[in-house]
This record gives sequence, C-alpha cells and structure tokens, in this order.
Amino acid sequence: MKRKPFIAGNWKLNNTIAEAEELIQGLLPRVGAVEDVDVVVAPSFLSLSAVVDSARGSAVQVYAQNMHEKDSGAFTGEVSAPQLVDIDVQGVILGHSERRQYFGETDRALQLKVPRALEAGLIPILCVGETEEEREQGDTERRLRHQVQEGLEKVPVSELHRVVVAYEPVWAIGTGLAATTEQAQETCGFVRALVQGFDKEAGNAVRVLYGGSLKPDNAAELLSQPDIDGALVGGASLDAESFGAIVKAAQ
Ligand code: G3P
Repeated sequence: MKRKPFIAGNWKLNNTIAEAEELIQGLLPRVGAVEDVDVVVAPSFLSLSAVVDSARGSAVQVYAQNMHEKDSGAFTGEVSAPQLVDIDVQGVILGHSERRQYFGETDRALQLKVPRALEAGLIPILCVGETEEEREQGDTERRLRHQVQEGLEKVPVSELHRVVVAYEPVWAIGTGLAATTEQAQETCGFVRALVQGFDKEAGNAVRVLYGGSLKPDNAAELLSQPDIDGALVGGASLDAESFGAIVKAAQ
C-alpha cells in the first residue's frame, strides 16, 4: 500500500517567538510548497499561533507537542484539544519519551488523549519506544506492545488510519547514535503489525515514523525502508537547511 511520507520536526523546548518565526521563514522557501510529503513542525505552545500564521497558505502543518485529555477545568498549566483547534493547530505529538520520562506521562492518560485528539479533529502522533536497558534485556517488543495497545485501545477502528505512530528508541534520541537501518525497519514493522492486530487495513494505512538522531546524512537510507513512512526529527529540525534536506530525502 502506498502511504504518503510524513516528516515532522519536534522543536521541543527551543526558540523564542522571534526565533521560531525566523525558523519557519527559513523553512517556507524550502518546503512550503511540498505536496508529496506531509511536512509538520511542532513549536512550543507559546510560538504556536505565530508559526500557524506564518505557515498559513503553505503546505506546512503546525502541531503541538502535548495536550490534556480534558477539554477544560481545574488543570493548571495544561492546554486542551479545543484550545489547539481554536488557533488552527492541525495535530499533536503525544507520549513523547521525554514527557513519559520527566513529566509522568502515563499510558493510561494516553489512552484518553489519542481518541480525544482525533475527536477534536487533530492528528495524533503517538510516540513509543524502548529504553536502552529494555533493549538489552530483550524487552523491546513487550514494551512496544504495551505502549501501542494502551495508546490505541480506545480509538474507534474507523479512526485508526488517521493516527501516526512514531517509533523512537529512547537510546537514540539526541545521542547521535541512530538505530541501524535494520533495527529501525524491523521495529517499525513490528509496530505496524501491532496496529494491524487492531485492524488489518488500518495497520496498512497508518504511517509509522522513525525518530532518534535522524539527520540529512542517514535520512535517505532509513526512509527507504518499507515500514518507515517518515521521521520525527528533533535536533536537525532546528536548522532550516537540514530539515529541508530530510524532507527532500522523503520525496
Ligand atoms: O521527537 C524527536 C526526537 O525525540 C528525536 O530527537 O534530536 O534525536 O532527532 P533527535
């Protein structure tokens, strides 16, 4: 099945509003008219509106890096799906390993966040991945099975194809040590099989991304694999030229 490539830049906790503007202005001439790849940037909450406005009319989509599962209420410091939709954000990264590791994000919360995002009209990128210790102990598949099953459990089958799943081995994030092409393909294939376990057709349609030290020089090889439909890029997405080169590698 032909799946549209998907390249997302996770800007994490970087950039003032002015710096975010500068980055999107540098990106637009490179990727603003690309139609054969879904191109996404995910700035911090404070820069979202400015980047949405700058990207308006281009092919670049703007996503948030997190959201709360409830629409409103006494949840200090949180941002909801309707608030993101209100400023024309189109999707949201959910369950990034940094949120799991440092901010207590649980599979239980993700079980609510993923369907809530879809219901609100947002595309969720559900992040999954094992730690170095889990890989060494042969626990990778068990960990991924748990994360994928919990994250997708409450998604209606008719909506499943809209979800994007990012496989990001924790040991490869920001370390400069990407998974080998074989490891990445094998594990993304396993993630797809897990989604196929819910629904065969949806599993065939779902985009599975690889993330973790993906750079312009290893992008083409990783992205040529049959079960890797794109990338969730951290560090290299903060540089317009590098991100542009990664999008090009996906075309
Ligand atoms: O979400 C993207 C990410 O965690 C990968 O980061 O810097 O290794 O590309 P990086």
